[in-house]
Order: sequence, then C-alpha cells, then structure tokens
Amino acid sequence: MKVLNIGSMNLDLVYRVDHIVQPGETEASVSMNTFLGGKGMNQSVALAKAGVEVYQGGMIGEDGQPFLDACAEYGVRADFIRKVEGKSGHAVIQIDSSAQNCILLYGGANQMLTEAYVDEVLSHFGSGDILLLQNEVNLLPYIVEKAYEKGMQIALNPSPFNEKLSAVDMTKISIFLLNEVEGNQVTGLTVPEEIIVKMQEMFPHARIVLTLGKDGAVYADGEERFFQPIFPVKAVDTTAAGDTFTGYFLAGLAEGMAIPEILKMSAKASSIAVSRAGAVPSIPYRDEVMAALAQA
Ligand code: RIB
Repeated sequence: MKVLNIGSMNLDLVYRVDHIVQPGETEASVSMNTFLGGKGMNQSVALAKAGVEVYQGGMIGEDGQPFLDACAEYGVRADFIRKVEGKSGHAVIQIDSSAQNCILLYGGANQMLTEAYVDEVLSHFGSGDILLLQNEVNLLPYIVEKAYEKGMQIALNPSPFNEKLSAVDMTKISIFLLNEVEGNQVTGLTVPEEIIVKMQEMFPHARIVLTLGKDGAVYADGEERFFQPIFPVKAVDTTAAGDTFTGYFLAGLAEGMAIPEILKMSAKASSIAVSRAGAVPSIPYRDEVMAALAQA
C-alpha cells in the first residue's frame, strides 16, 4: 500500500503579534520568521516522520527549491512534485500572545494543477493505495473522481472549508479528518456528538476523525467509536497541529495499528508540534513521540 498526498506547499511568513490585527488597524509585529508549510507539505512530513513512505504531489514555483530540499531531508518522496513558472504558494500567519493564529493564503503554484498532471501522477497508484487531500489545491473534484475510479482509498481533510468543496462528491471519501469548525460547515451542526451522527448518516461507509481542539478527538466508523483526550502542553504555535494529527493518524492506519493506539500517538505528536514554532519544523519524529508516550 502506497500513500500519495496531492497537496499544497506554502512558504509561511509568520508574524508574532500582541493580538490579531483588526479591520482598519495598523499594528507592529513583535517578530517575524519564515517556515516551510502548507497543509499538504505538513501532512506529508508528518507521515514521513512517523515512518511511512509518502509521495508528495503538487506544484511549486521557480522559488520552490526549499520544498524539494525539505523532502530530501525528511524522507518525503518528491517524484511527483513539478516546478511551474511563477511563485510557490505562501501564507501570511499572525500568531497572538495566546498562540492563536489566523492565516491568509496566496495559492500561487498550488492552484496550477492540470488534468494531464493528475492523470500522470495517478497512473502510478492503484487499488488499495491511499490518496490524501486537503483543500488548498485546484481540481479536487477531478482528483477525487479519478482516484475513486482506480479504487484508491481517499482521505480528505476538508480544510480550509469553502464553496469549492461543494463540487466534490464526498460520498467517494473513505476517511474524513476534520475539526469541529469544518464539521459544522459540513453538517450545519455545532454539537460534536450531533456532527458525528449526522456525518455517519451522510457518509455511512466513511471513517470519521473529528478533532475538538482542547477537548480532544473522536473517531467513529460504522461499528466503533473512540475518544482521545489531548496531552496538555504550553502552546507556542498551533500551526500544523491538525496536520501533524492527520499525518500520524494515516500513518497508524497504513501500518494497521489499533485505532485507540493511533489516536493516542496522533494526539501526542500533535501536542509536541503545538509546543514548538513553525509548521514543518515543529513536527516530531516517531521516536520522540513514542518516548514521550512512554513517559506519559
Ligand atoms: O495547517 C497549517 C498550514 O495552513 C500552514 O502551514 C499554512 O501554510 C496553511 O496552509
């Protein structure tokens, strides 16, 4: 079984601020750093650091060499990353004094996927392989159709949630990994229990992983349901916490681990990411996660 992630690669421009800037306000930042990120890249790095072979797909611009270097450093397969004219995607991120963030995206090369490119990449994968997607690249409806035709298991992190997702046939998704805000956007409901029940009605064959911030995470499928509390830490930067959880969760599934063990490992990995600055650099390796779990 192979894991393919067709997703975004962003340069994250991260500004520490006292509070998230308000409309009409000008605010001086406390510090500024650049990190590699993008939901696609973050999730691939999490999979790779968890020990699973993952192929990152997607587009970078002429400035995108750092993404290829990071793939080499962390063991992410870069065979299907293509360079196009123009800029890579980037994100402007503000982090306030309580470690909350807000993110402004520039799609850049992430929005330049073509159907010919998707066909070429998918030709290397088949039945039983896992395809991981988020909503920061174009052509999601096409990618889902084609991957489903091939019998791939499709895992969707519907983030950021926007109107483009309405064109995706969600009944073809095998695994949803989403937070409660996205759960609300999918179902119209706000109570986590009701979101889970509604999603199971809407997608009876899918596995659902609903993360609830400080309230933990819930897994549900047609037969089983499990709850995982968080491992509390002092939050430094929550960027990529969800991506770390997603990557570790899929890594555990790909390895055939039991769901409660996968949830525990994912929650611990995510808590470590929250305690560090940046997206890609904050994601821990498996050894560190397992050592921290052994101490917990
Ligand atoms: O999920 C966090 C990521 O969202 C950041 O790395 C940023 O690039 C945006 O894609």
